[in-house]
Amino acid sequence: MRSKLVLSIGISGLAFHGLAAPPDPAANEPPEVTLTAPVANAVFQWNSVVPFVIGVSDREDGKTEFEEIAPNEVLLRTAYLPDPSQKDKVLSNLAETDPQALRRMSASNCLTCHTAQTKLIGPSFDLIAGKYPDTPETVASLAKKVVTGSSGVWGNVQMPPHPDLKIEQATEMVAWILRNSSDPNQSFVVGIEGAFKTREKPDNDAGTGIYLLMASYMDHGLKDLPQSAKQGHHTVVLKPAR
Ligand code: HEC
Repeated sequence: MRSKLVLSIGISGLAFHGLAAPPDPAANEPPEVTLTAPVANAVFQWNSVVPFVIGVSDREDGKTEFEEIAPNEVLLRTAYLPDPSQKDKVLSNLAETDPQALRRMSASNCLTCHTAQTKLIGPSFDLIAGKYPDTPETVASLAKKVVTGSSGVWGNVQMPPHPDLKIEQATEMVAWILRNSSDPNQSFVVGIEGAFKTREKPDNDAGTGIYLLMASYMDHGLKDLPQSAKQGHHTVVLKPAR
């Protein structure tokens, strides 16, 4: 009696195993990202605040309208192109490089105190990138300070330690900051709604430049298959005022 039972379990287990196909990463549906504001071809002004709204819909993760998407995982990258003929090149660059380090900084608490170009509680990333050379030594020493905390370099406010971060994660973040924050034409904001600031008018600007806005979201992939994660993005072009 007993051995029969074991046997039948064994067989059904085997049969199940034989039938189940290995999960296919391609089965993960990519997210649909829509930048609903500003609208395409809207006119931008220099040095002004532009409100934005981003919607995300993903078969596996859910929808922003039902509050199923964490706002801090949604990213808006902005780029001013003095020469509009660079558009396709810059677009494909933006689309292909997922700023994983930036997403991690948002998931950690870094961006509650730091932004790309405006001082909050901590110095802005462009100031940090302007102060330090992008060398392995400075990256290593700044990464250590992110983990252990920092004080006295930028003023009286302390940066609290981040003991949960591994040194490799902090290194990746600092390397991203130093490499990507010194170009005044490029910026980023995190969230599904908010505002970003256009840059000041560059000297000798020809007046034909455009702003590219790329909203993006990296989904969580299929359950137990994080490598199936996919990025969705949507780009809108803003035109200069005449
Ligand atoms: C509670 C606010 C706060 C948070 C959260 C925070 N920082 Fe800071 N950060 C600061 C302040 C304030 C300073 C300036 C400290 C000083 O003067 O030494 C700073 C300085 C820095 C510096 C420059 C350090 C130096 O020696 O010049 C880097 C790099 C940095 N932060 C990265 C990060 C990263 C990465 C994270 C997320 C893991 C993060 N920060 C989270 C407030 C914060």
